Amino acid sequence: MKTTTHFLQMKKDHEPIAMLTAYDAPSAKLAERAGVDMILVGDSLGMVMLGYDSTVPVTMDDMVLHTKAVKRGAKDTFVVTDLPFFAYHSTFSETAANVRRLMQEAGADAVKLEGGKEIVETVRLLVQAGVPVVGHIGLTPQSVGVLGGYKVQGKDQETAEQLVEDAKAIAKAGAFAIVAECIPHQLGTILSKQVTVPIIGIGAGNQTDGQVLVYHDVIGYESPRVPKFVKQYVSISSVIEDGLSQYVREVKGRDFPAPEHQYSMKDDAWLTLYG
Ligand code: KIV
Ligand code: NA
Repeated sequence: MKTTTHFLQMKKDHEPIAMLTAYDAPSAKLAERAGVDMILVGDSLGMVMLGYDSTVPVTMDDMVLHTKAVKRGAKDTFVVTDLPFFAYHSTFSETAANVRRLMQEAGADAVKLEGGKEIVETVRLLVQAGVPVVGHIGLTPQSVGVLGGYKVQGKDQETAEQLVEDAKAIAKAGAFAIVAECIPHQLGTILSKQVTVPIIGIGAGNQTDGQVLVYHDVIGYESPRVPKFVKQYVSISSVIEDGLSQYVREVKGRDFPAPEHQYSMKDDAWLTLYG
């Protein structure tokens, strides 16, 4: 299994880090088999798995449940789990209790927190306690209400500089990687050059130290909101729908089950029953 040391070395070697979300055992198993370097149990599971409109309703219990399933499916891959909305914004002891659940109960290898300067102290305390931390800057979906929608961040000089400062501060506090979401590609390049830890981009151009995408977006599996930065590599929805429709048709036509799907009684036993 790769570790935080490998990810730092990959940045130094200019080898892009391929990260992907996964939420259950089969998706984790497929992600691992495909060779992803790092799996993210993202709170995007609220949208793609649970049908919510945003990540805000996602709970600690949701994150624990899905992390456990992912760990069972991908035993040899480094797994990062999101701390959900408001799980790291009151006291540090509450934050610590939540992190403890994700790591001890569910088996996460690291946790991810959204935010800039305002979470630097939390990052520092977690790292001091031995918790590998991933930051998340730019478009931070848990703050969608404050940001006023899912918009590109850091388009002008002032906000871009702020994001560079945030990233540097989070790295200095001890985070071993930072996700940068929905920012101009120029800023993605600058962040990767100026920040010492890997910058994992999502909608941040192709010069970041790595990329991350949402599983359902990559495979075209009923993802509710598909932003410009997504590339859908296959369209699994239509494959599934075709299979399911055929099943329904065959049930209605008594074409399923066919003889090869049926069991038989012992020779002539039915005669005794019905004879
Ligand atoms: O929850 C998630 O899937 C994420 C990625 C989009 C980075 O945070
Ligand atoms: Na997330």
